[in-house]
Amino acid sequence: MTSFTGKTVLVTGASSGIGRATALRLAGMGADLVLVSRSREVLDEVRRECEGLGAVALVAVADVGDAESVEAAFRAAATRFGRLHGVVHSAAALSYGRFQDVPREVFDASIATTLTGTANVARSALAAFRESGGGSLVVLGSLLGKISTPYMSSYVTAKWGVHGLVRTLQIEARSTPGTHVSLVWPGGVDTPVYLQAGTYLRRHGRPPPPVDSPEKVARVVVRALGRPRRESPVGVANHLTVTGFRVVPGVFDRIVTPLMKAGGLSRGEVDNSPGNVLGPQHDGEALHGRWGRHWMRPAALVGVAAAAVAANHSLRKRT
Ligand SMILES: NC(=O)c1ccc[n+]([C@@H]2O[C@H](COP(=O)([O-])OP(=O)(O)OC[C@H]3O[C@@H](n4cnc5c(N)ncnc54)[C@H](OP(=O)(O)O)[C@@H]3O)[C@@H](O)[C@H]2O)c1
Repeated sequence: MTSFTGKTVLVTGASSGIGRATALRLAGMGADLVLVSRSREVLDEVRRECEGLGAVALVAVADVGDAESVEAAFRAAATRFGRLHGVVHSAAALSYGRFQDVPREVFDASIATTLTGTANVARSALAAFRESGGGSLVVLGSLLGKISTPYMSSYVTAKWGVHGLVRTLQIEARSTPGTHVSLVWPGGVDTPVYLQAGTYLRRHGRPPPPVDSPEKVARVVVRALGRPRRESPVGVANHLTVTGFRVVPGVFDRIVTPLMKAGGLSRGEVDNSPGNVLGPQHDGEALHGRWGRHWMRPAALVGVAAAAVAANHSLRKRT
């Protein structure tokens, strides 16, 4: 395991899901951290968690869609820690709904966070690395940066753009030794993003199986920080899905909508809303969502305990 002792890493989206898991993993590995998102109170909670693991952590509130607030966060990092060795860009926001049903301001704000936000963070990161002689940028892409699906037009548009931007930066970085740009592209991950998203479908999203944990993605992100890679997929079905999309697009197009309805949307009705696209929803931010195996562990323990009680009961009856 690479040690991050004495290294400073800025993490966007650090208040929830994969960004939060990454910050905690880095804290446990000795890194100093700069925690970025729009929610000061949740970032303060994450800062305390990082400090509990022995890290020094700075909270920098910023909207990644706003280049000036991103620059201010990087300035605060430089003032506090001197130099940045790594940047993990995890912030994103999205909304569900048919393209025509998603209000223009919600579509545009998703793009501003997820695509323009990546450009803003990359611009500041590369400037910081240029000044200090290098560094490692890891950007969270997505399986949806390589395929398409209905009802997620802003996210698919943004993530295809993110993947294109990252590949361009990787090629350009060849002329700046010491600067590295890596892409991590997960499939479904158990984070709050699905409940935090806007919806104009009267349904929440949910991660289609197989679902990985944010901790698993964080391990891949941290590995890419220390040993940069052009691309790191996370998700056993990613390559098969991309192959289907590319090789048999007619079949893919026919089955993707029923599959999305069956596996990618909640059953119950909810009110339409912009979710966290236009502003943060503090209460919904957490490390995990509702779909991970960690929910099964307590259930399994209860099951084992119930089985033990039942076995004990029947044994007593017999004796
Ligand atoms: N979960 C999945 O299934 C999955 C799959 C593939 C790829 N990914 C990618 O992984 C990354 C992390 O997703 P996640 O699932 O961990 O999401 P999440 O739990 O919803 O976390 C998103 C983070 O981004 C921050 N954020 C949102 N809008 C922002 C803005 N305008 N400025 C600054 N910060 C903002 C949020 O905090 P505030 O709202 O407080 O600002 C939060 O900390 C994203 O790039 C996502 O596309 C996720």
